[in-house]
Amino acid sequence: MKYSKLLRVWHWLNAIAIFALLGTFFLRKTFLSWRTNSELIVQKLSEYDITVTAEVAKVVAKTIRAPMWEWHIIFGYVLASLILFRIYIFVKEGLSFKDTSSLHKMGVSSLYVIFYLLIVFMAISGITLHLGADIGISKEILSSIKEIHEPVAWFFVVFVPLHIGGVIVADLTQERGLVSKMISGNDDG
Ligand code: HEM
Ligand code: HEM
Repeated sequence: MKYSKLLRVWHWLNAIAIFALLGTFFLRKTFLSWRTNSELIVQKLSEYDITVTAEVAKVVAKTIRAPMWEWHIIFGYVLASLILFRIYIFVKEGLSFKDTSSLHKMGVSSLYVIFYLLIVFMAISGITLHLGADIGISKEILSSIKEIHEPVAWFFVVFVPLHIGGVIVADLTQERGLVSKMISGNDDG
């Protein structure tokens, strides 16, 4: 089957948004982790005989992290807009994956269904986390939402390499030209 121009454009914009969201997640847990960096701040300043409390170091580390995390929110809204774009494509063109010819194809399609359900959840929970305090949602509710938003993020950490590995293997074996079909739309591999 051919992938329409709209679906191909959507696919690559969506891939950029997911990479960016996972990238900000990665940076938050590694190079820009406030725990690691606040310890570094305390330790480095002590070498200059400057004493700061853990509390102050935490504020500084979080301030350094903040401009990076703004990109999580920006790409979060990009992802939410892309979901609306995907719904439009679905209404206009119908389902793009409906191959039930093998157990493997059904497995791939089910993974896409889970992917779509979970990005809708991530967008709703993410926007609620972002706007929650302003629209009067309690701290307790927001922290329970965050406790679900964060573990669900791990689905995408697994999905992305599995998906990329899967389409490369398929392209090298039974589905020659599959990746170029998602780029040019051509069906002649
Ligand atoms: C964050 C990265 C990515 C995400 C979230 C993603 C997501 C998706 C989704 C949801 C679909 C199903 C589209 C539909 O029919 O509704 C899809 C299909 C596809 N993607 Fe990706 N993709 C990503 C990266 C890539 C990359 C890097 C490649 C190429 C190496 C690729 C190649 C393909 C191909 C060839 C298909 C069609 C295959 C099929 O129908 O099973 N994707 N992708
Ligand atoms: C696949 C998509 C997404 C992934 C993988 C993801 C990942 C994460 C992770 C792991 C956290 C917890 C960070 C931590 O506390 O260590 C988080 C928090 C958050 N995310 Fe997302 N997210 C996604 C989509 C979104 C969307 C669509 C929005 C919408 C704006 C969003 C907004 C937020 C906000 C506001 C927080 C709370 C940050 C804070 O407490 O400072 N996320 N996200």
